[in-house]
Amino acid sequence: MQPVKLKAGIYWVGGIDWDIRNFHGYLTQRGSTYNAYLIIDEKVTLIDTVKHYLYDEMIERISKIVDPAKIDYIVSNHVEMDHSGGLPKLMAVAKNATLFTSPKGASGLKAHYHQDWNFKVVKSGDSLNIGKRNLAFVHTPMAHWPDSMVTYLPEDKILFSNDALGQHLATSERFDDQVPLGITMLEAKKYYANILMLFDRPVAGALKAIGGLEIEMIAPSHGLIWRTHISEIVQAYQKWSANETIEKAVIVYDSMWGSTAKIAAAIQAAFENKGISVKMMCLTANHISDVMTEVIDAKYLCIGSPTLNNNMMPTVASFLTYLKGLAPKNRTGLAFGSYGWSGQSIGLVETMLKDTKMVILEKIKVQYVPDQAGLQKITVDLEKQL
Ligand code: FEO
Repeated sequence: MQPVKLKAGIYWVGGIDWDIRNFHGYLTQRGSTYNAYLIIDEKVTLIDTVKHYLYDEMIERISKIVDPAKIDYIVSNHVEMDHSGGLPKLMAVAKNATLFTSPKGASGLKAHYHQDWNFKVVKSGDSLNIGKRNLAFVHTPMAHWPDSMVTYLPEDKILFSNDALGQHLATSERFDDQVPLGITMLEAKKYYANILMLFDRPVAGALKAIGGLEIEMIAPSHGLIWRTHISEIVQAYQKWSANETIEKAVIVYDSMWGSTAKIAAAIQAAFENKGISVKMMCLTANHISDVMTEVIDAKYLCIGSPTLNNNMMPTVASFLTYLKGLAPKNRTGLAFGSYGWSGQSIGLVETMLKDTKMVILEKIKVQYVPDQAGLQKITVDLEKQL
């Protein structure tokens, strides 16, 4: 377990979670990392820790550089346990360490671990001298939790951005130019879609707050460190947090006997005929977190469910609950589905779409099995609305 040098005296000492596939409901098919950073200066400083079960891995990396008992300062940028889980054991080893965090960080850590550690609360704009270097703290509330903050190291031009700009991506490489950029950007997109989409305004505020900083490296708390493609990831975040969409439709559905799937295909034809990009995502084949990655830049979201027991299918209900929580803005929605006799599902889907404040297209409802003429009519009628 080796540390990785970012710059002279600054090291990545985090943990790699190769096997995690379920991050509170988010399918992390490429695993993740929890990034902790060690700065060797007059005050030995650690920025964030790791999930509790990777504590030993972090300590082994730190111990290759310095005795962990000699850590003077620990910065907790974020309370969530993927970054604070190592604190209880670490605070028992680094007995003299001072723990720097935001006001909500202090109350949050106390509510998680019930320990009277040596807290020092920092305000946004505060600076901490650690010897030859200074750490500047910028609060970024709700990017991701109320306690979230980032830490900037001006002498080395490194931004420790915590959750923002991260990716769930387990690799032995540590930098963005060591892994194909398409993979890293896709995982960054999936991360934003599933973790930060709800917090678009706080993320835009955070981008503004760090906008004036000279940055040579962005060291997030998950995944790879950005040193070559900084402008690409910052520009992508600007677009995502502004809810910018393209002419693209995501068609999400489940089907019992194939009728709702046929309607989905008729809807697909309408978008294709209008030259609009389409992504078909049946919920038996696609995880809801992967659907959200496609939703991030799609103007149109079409959701279909047959009626099952006077309701929508549970797969569709699950996706809609997830979608409502992440609350994408500026979208156009369409509800569709087949039914046997009562047909509640289509109205229920439409109500959920209305709850997310989407512009709503005319819903499509077919009893039992649609015939060819009916499918063609669906395509033609929808084309007129696009
Ligand atoms: Fe990676 Fe909000 O924790």
